[in-house]
Amino acid sequence: MSSLKRFALTTPLYYVNDVPHIGSAYTTIAADVVARFQRLLGHQALLITGTDEHGQKIQRSAQGQGKSPQEFCDQIVPSFVSLWELLNIQYDRFSRTTAVRHQAIVREFFERVWETGDIYQGQQTGWYCVSCEEFKEERELLEGNRCPIHTTKQVEWRDEQNYFFRLSKYQTKLEEFYQSRPEFIQPASRRNEVISFVNQGLQDFSISRVNLDWGFPVPVDPQHTLYVWFDALLGYITALLEPDAEPTLANALGTWWPINLHLIGKDILRFHAVYWPAMLMSAGLNLPDKVFGHGFLTKDGQKMGKSSGNTLDPIALVKNYGSDAVRYYFLKEIEFGKDGDFNEVRFINVLNADLANDLGNLLNRTLNMVKKYCAGQVPLIVLEAIPSANPLKAIGLNLGEQVKLAYEALAFHQACESVLVLVQASNKFIDEQAPWSLYKQGQQQEVEAVLYGVLESVRLAAYLLSPIIPNISSEIYQQLGFGINFNDQTQSAIAAPFTTHAAWGVLSCKQQLGTPQPIFKRIEPRKND
Ligand code: MSP
Repeated sequence: MSSLKRFALTTPLYYVNDVPHIGSAYTTIAADVVARFQRLLGHQALLITGTDEHGQKIQRSAQGQGKSPQEFCDQIVPSFVSLWELLNIQYDRFSRTTAVRHQAIVREFFERVWETGDIYQGQQTGWYCVSCEEFKEERELLEGNRCPIHTTKQVEWRDEQNYFFRLSKYQTKLEEFYQSRPEFIQPASRRNEVISFVNQGLQDFSISRVNLDWGFPVPVDPQHTLYVWFDALLGYITALLEPDAEPTLANALGTWWPINLHLIGKDILRFHAVYWPAMLMSAGLNLPDKVFGHGFLTKDGQKMGKSSGNTLDPIALVKNYGSDAVRYYFLKEIEFGKDGDFNEVRFINVLNADLANDLGNLLNRTLNMVKKYCAGQVPLIVLEAIPSANPLKAIGLNLGEQVKLAYEALAFHQACESVLVLVQASNKFIDEQAPWSLYKQGQQQEVEAVLYGVLESVRLAAYLLSPIIPNISSEIYQQLGFGINFNDQTQSAIAAPFTTHAAWGVLSCKQQLGTPQPIFKRIEPRKND
């Protein structure tokens, strides 16, 4: 295993002030797809997720319920774990910032930065948004001193002694870094945002709070509590520790550092693309490869929010439609990086069109024809005998590479669209070639060539979509006679390696086809819709 290429990636560590919402589910689904794709390539992947449990926001939520913060966090965390299970997320590490070993990592990291001379005491005055856990510039505020992100919440005035991190010192280094590593912040629009923010001049930021005890004490001054973001970002490092390893930076950084990809929403870009690299530079550590800031989800065109009463409950969605459906919709319908909308009618239409009709029916009708016209056997075909002008072969031969590039660029919608081109071409090919007529005319060889081409195309489509719809892909593979379950990633990486299975022409006449069964049941719109 050790010679395999490694790929470590993270979701944000989610605040536990409330149960998970669809925004957190969105990032986590995308992260799971990336990890699954890496494993399909035969790489070793480490998917990190977890929870961010300190700070004023959590402390107040706990108070609101009359609970101690720890008790409150312990009660919310299982709702994340069970949602990830429902969504078929195969994460490797779940990092909780209240873990004892996390404190050891934070302490060691703080000490390194302290030694560098990048932490000093000063007076912090300004407007603070507890929901963002961030100071805001006066010019950013909405009327009535409301936060631009949490528009119903008022910011609070602070005037206190804090410890500061010397962010300003890293201005030029950061600018040089963005120049030399243009792929560090993605997509390009977010990179421009960050660069223009940094160009305006960086100010030191406070990394401690007084009058707050829910967090780690500042190692050099326990009267102060460490700022929640300073501690949270380091949760990524703690997550790299092997479960039984002693919590030291050396142990945490030995195998998986630097992290290859941080997946986040656009609202927390500054923390990941400015503060985080500067903190790492100060501690003398290598920087992550990439930070990708995705867009925001809206519902029926409206910003989702508790106050507008239009939140989308991810648990209900998965329970109603299944995990593959939810995963597919969000990744196929929304260009990753841009904002996107959820609308239930559209959701149902997309799933019915792509998964039930185009893909599901294609497999079903083809398997039935194979039963009828080929005695249920995969036709014996010499691949070279299929002319390169065959439309399915022509598309199929390049598809693996094309889809690989799309996954690597996190262009999930593009990956799905490219696969659908093959699926739709296959439906068209059957209709045009009409194997039922060819059969009646006694053209058995032609019948076999058509059916082989279509079956093989369904297989390839299932393989390439397996990171997104692992259950459906496994079902298709099983009906095609492969004993492969894409949820068993070690097994599928060995039995169905990308180098062979992403090509066109893999299906062999030795396969024992299974019984045709619908792979995705058409969704009937609810009566009151
Ligand atoms: N705790 C911090 C992250 C610390 S990482 C070291 C945090 N947590 S959060 O729970 O508030 O947000 C987690 C993620 O959810 C963010 O990436 C945010 O962008 C995302 N989303 C929150 N609402 C969203 C939508 N409506 N749509 C898409 N993503 C959204 O921030």
